[in-house]
Amino acid sequence: MGAAQTGTGDDAPRRTTRRLAADAAGIAAAAALLASGGTVAFPTETVYGLGADATDAAAVAAIYAAKGRPSFNPLIAHVPDLAAALRHGVFDAAALRLARRFWPGPLTLVVPKASGSGVCDLVTAGLDSLGLRVPDHPVARALLAACGRPVAAPSANRSGRVSPTEAAHVLGDLDGRIDAVLDGGATPVGVESTIVACLGGPPVLLRPGGVPREAIEAELGGPLAAAVPDADDAPLAPGMLASHYAPRAGVRLDAASVSPDEAVLLFGSFRPHGLSGQTQLNLSPSGSVVEAAANLFGMLRRLDGAGATTIAVAPIPSAGLGEAIVDRLRRAAAPR
Ligand code: TXA
Ligand code: MG
Repeated sequence: MGAAQTGTGDDAPRRTTRRLAADAAGIAAAAALLASGGTVAFPTETVYGLGADATDAAAVAAIYAAKGRPSFNPLIAHVPDLAAALRHGVFDAAALRLARRFWPGPLTLVVPKASGSGVCDLVTAGLDSLGLRVPDHPVARALLAACGRPVAAPSANRSGRVSPTEAAHVLGDLDGRIDAVLDGGATPVGVESTIVACLGGPPVLLRPGGVPREAIEAELGGPLAAAVPDADDAPLAPGMLASHYAPRAGVRLDAASVSPDEAVLLFGSFRPHGLSGQTQLNLSPSGSVVEAAANLFGMLRRLDGAGATTIAVAPIPSAGLGEAIVDRLRRAAAPR
C-alpha cells in the first residue's frame, strides 16, 4: 500500500528524538526547535500535543508526515492567551464569552480565520475556520510564551491511535519521527479538549471533551447545537472519523458479561458476569468520571499491550466528562 493512497505510509524521515526535561533549559530548547521548523511533543492538561510553528507550512507538513495523518484533517492552533487568539480568529459574542470563562483550559473554539492571521492553510486544511486553544498547563504555557508564535498541535499519536497522556506513550508511537518530546509527566485531564464552533449561528458542539457540555451550556444560558453530519458538505469536524482513538484490540462497550479471553475495563463497583482471572483495570473504583477520564487512554494502552483480541468495557455514565469518555470509547469500538 503506497503512502500517497492511504496517507498513513511511513513517509516521515527518520530523525533522533530528543528527550527534554520540562525545566527552563528543556523549554528553551523546545522553543528553539519550534522556531527553526522542528516538531516537538509537549504536555497540555488534556493530552500530549505534537507541535510545530503554525505559520511555517513545511514544519506543519512534518506533523502530518510524523502522524501519518490524512491531510484533510485540520489542526488546532495553540496560543498563550486570548489577546493572541484574537489576532488569528474572529470572535463573536458567544466565542468571547466562552473564551473568557474557560481559557486557559480544555476548550477549543472554531471561529472564522482572521484575514491577518499568519497561520498557514495546511493547519486549517483549506477551511475558512480555525480551531484555537489556550491550554492550561504550566509547561505548555511556558513553551508558547517562549516561542512567541502560534503552535499547531494535534494529539501526539500515530493517526488513528489512542491519544498519549504520558511522554512514554508519545515515544511508543513517534520515536525517531519527531525532533523532541518535552516530558511533563502524566496529563491531568486525560481526554482531549471540548470543541465548540462559533461561526455566526448558534454555537455547535463538535466534540465532547475536557470541559463538560453542562458547564458550557450554563455559561451560554442555553443548549449547544449538535453537529449535523452532511455527506455533501465538508464535514464540520473532519477529524471526527468514526474509527478513531483505536487500540489494536477490538473494543466492546456496555459489557454486562465477559468471556475468559477478553481483557476488561471496569468502572466503579459494577462487575460483569463471568469476571474472574481476566486482565482487568478499573478506570475509577470510586465511580468518578473525572478520574476515569485521566486514566482512560493509559489503561486502554495497557490492556491493548496485554494481547487480548477484545477489550470489554463496563457501562459508563454519560454525564459530565462521561460524555467525552463514552464518545472516545464508541470511536475505539467502531468497525475499521
Ligand atoms: O486537547 C486537545 O484538543 C489536543 C491537545 C494537544 O490540544 N489536541 C487534539 O488535536 O486533540 P487533534 O488534532 O487530535 O483533534 C483536533 C480536532 C480534529 O477532530 C479536527 O478535525 C478538529 O479538531 N478541528 C480542528 N480545526 C477545525 C476546524 N477549523 N473546523 C472543524 N474542526 C476542526
Ligand atoms: Mg487526535
